[in-house]
Amino acid sequence: MLEDLERILFTEDRIRERIAEVAAEISRDYEGREVMLVTVLKGAVFFLTHLARSLTIPARLDFLGIASFSPGKALPGVVRISKDLDQDIQNMDVILIEDIVDTGLTLRYLLNVLSGRQPRSIVVCTFLDKAQRRLVDIPVKYRCFEIPDRFVVGFGLDYDQHYRTLPCVGILKSHIYQGR
Ligand code: IMP
Repeated sequence: MLEDLERILFTEDRIRERIAEVAAEISRDYEGREVMLVTVLKGAVFFLTHLARSLTIPARLDFLGIASFSPGKALPGVVRISKDLDQDIQNMDVILIEDIVDTGLTLRYLLNVLSGRQPRSIVVCTFLDKAQRRLVDIPVKYRCFEIPDRFVVGFGLDYDQHYRTLPCVGILKSHIYQGR
């Protein structure tokens, strides 16, 4: 799979180091409280497992599945919840865990839905942030890395369900997704 990368952006070691820093920041900010980590399936699971193990505060976990209405993402941001949370988040301090924020449309939808369930607080924690591509203003409280406007895979991020298990993050060679 590595041969399909144009360039590695973040090695496994760098990723671990940075996630530990973000976990320390979250642990400080929420000291004395329990957080509810709501993770968007599937990409963010890799990030979650590293982050959660480095937290020094108690955390509950729950998962949200989302499906794009439009195959091929012709209509970005048009999503629906395909697997809802199992737990009630009312009065909880929720941290929404994402793999990547691109246009921000998916997160805007999710934040609207979850805010309606009256959590005590809700913030976003993303592994990667393509800030240049943002179409809507989304408050991102925690981010591991800001990245350029390129298609990246690895550490949970996929192209057509491939490459999620790569331990690093890299830019996918463009002929791979343009050839389809
Ligand atoms: P947004 O609604 O545009 O912010 O879309 C975010 C979603 O697009 C992410 O959860 C990913 O599924 C997908 N995505 C955006 N950029 C990339 C990328 O570079 N690699 C893999 N998936 C991406």
